Amino acid sequence: MALLPILRFPDVRLKKVAAPIKNIDDGIRKLVADMAETMYEAPGIGLAATQVDVHKQLVVIDISEERNELRVFINPRIEQSEGLQEGEEGCLSVPGIYEKVERAERVTVRYLDLDGTQQSLTTDGLLAVCIQHEIDHLQGHVFVDHLSQLKQTRIRSKLAKQARVTA
Ligand code: NI
Repeated sequence: MALLPILRFPDVRLKKVAAPIKNIDDGIRKLVADMAETMYEAPGIGLAATQVDVHKQLVVIDISEERNELRVFINPRIEQSEGLQEGEEGCLSVPGIYEKVERAERVTVRYLDLDGTQQSLTTDGLLAVCIQHEIDHLQGHVFVDHLSQLKQTRIRSKLAKQARVTA
C-alpha cells in the first residue's frame, strides 16, 4: 500500500468529472487500499478518487470511531433524497476550513461493491452527509462551492497564506 498525495483546493484538477468504473480489477483494488490508507493516515472520514487525482467514480468512507468499518462505493448514484440538515463540514482538500453546509437529511445511494455487486443503501445523519460530500467530489465540486462568494474568497486567501507559510 502507499500513501497518495491529496490535491488541495483550489487545484483545477478537483473540478474534473470522474468516469464510471467498468472493470473492478487489481488496479482498482490497489487504488481502494491506497485510498483507505491515505484517508486513515490523514486522518479523514471520507476520500474520493478525484482528491488523489484519479478521475474514476470511487469513494472510500469510514465514519466509525474505531476506524474499522471501511465502506467502498463504486459508481455511486443518489437515487432518492429527502429532508434537510445543516452541519459543519471539512475536507482533506481544504485543510483547516470548517463551514456549515446544507445537505439532504436522508439519501438512498446505489453503487457497486468491490465484488461488482449492485448495492443500495438508505442512510441519514453523518453518513448521508459524507456520501453527498464525496459524490460532489466525483462531479468536480468541493464543499466550498456551496458557500457564498464572500466566504469562498476568504477561504482562498486563507489557504494561500497557509501555503506561503508552509512553503
Ligand atoms: Ni472532501
